[in-house]
Amino acid sequence: FQPKLLQGKSVLITAGPTFEPIDPVRGITNLSSGKMGFAIARAAREAGAQVTLIAGPTALPTPYGVSRLDVQSAQQMHEAVLAQVKAQDVFVAVAAVADWRVVGASEQKLKKDASGTPPQLRLEPNPDILATVAALADRPYCVGFAAESENLAQYGEAKRQRKNVPLLVGNIGHQTFGKDDNELILFEENGQTVLPRASKQQLARQLIAAIARRI
Ligand code: C5P
Repeated sequence: FQPKLLQGKSVLITAGPTFEPIDPVRGITNLSSGKMGFAIARAAREAGAQVTLIAGPTALPTPYGVSRLDVQSAQQMHEAVLAQVKAQDVFVAVAAVADWRVVGASEQKLKKDASGTPPQLRLEPNPDILATVAALADRPYCVGFAAESENLAQYGEAKRQRKNVPLLVGNIGHQTFGKDDNELILFEENGQTVLPRASKQQLARQLIAAIARRI
């Protein structure tokens, strides 16, 4: 009898984009599809973990056996994560969280004014969800993601240290959004490991196996 890699463990995952409202019908978002985070949720569940997936707006179906909470904005994602993070063994922050939100989003749809002057949007920073979790005294094993458009090898390790996490996963190439395959590089204190190009589901299984070996 071979026990599953994450049997008895709990894993919390964020995935997808966030949506920052401007008014009830408009907002700011990004091109994250949620595919990588959902694949990791599926792989963690296959490995025997109890999985909670906190998802921004995506059209993806919930992986079998995964408990899913849908949110829109970064602030909602932050609150949902803090409500779920206690007693988790692993936290994987895959979501492409919007860095800024609109100050004082309008309750009513903004109207075009007669002179054609566009509204002025003011932005303020969103909380860094991963950094918040990584700073908890009783923190789970924290895994971050990075989608850099250049110099990944340098920025990846710097970001791992800045985020204060044991493992930071870089997407090699920035054209990963929406695709079914990917290529990853794992940054850790004692070096880097490349997971060569494969489907996001295969890479998710390899990543879960790597995490299981480290906890
Ligand atoms: O700093 P950057 O946004 O590139 O960091 C990416 C990592 O941090 C990802 O793991 C992402 O999920 C997480 N993050 C977060 N909250 C934010 C911004 C990023 O959890 N507000």
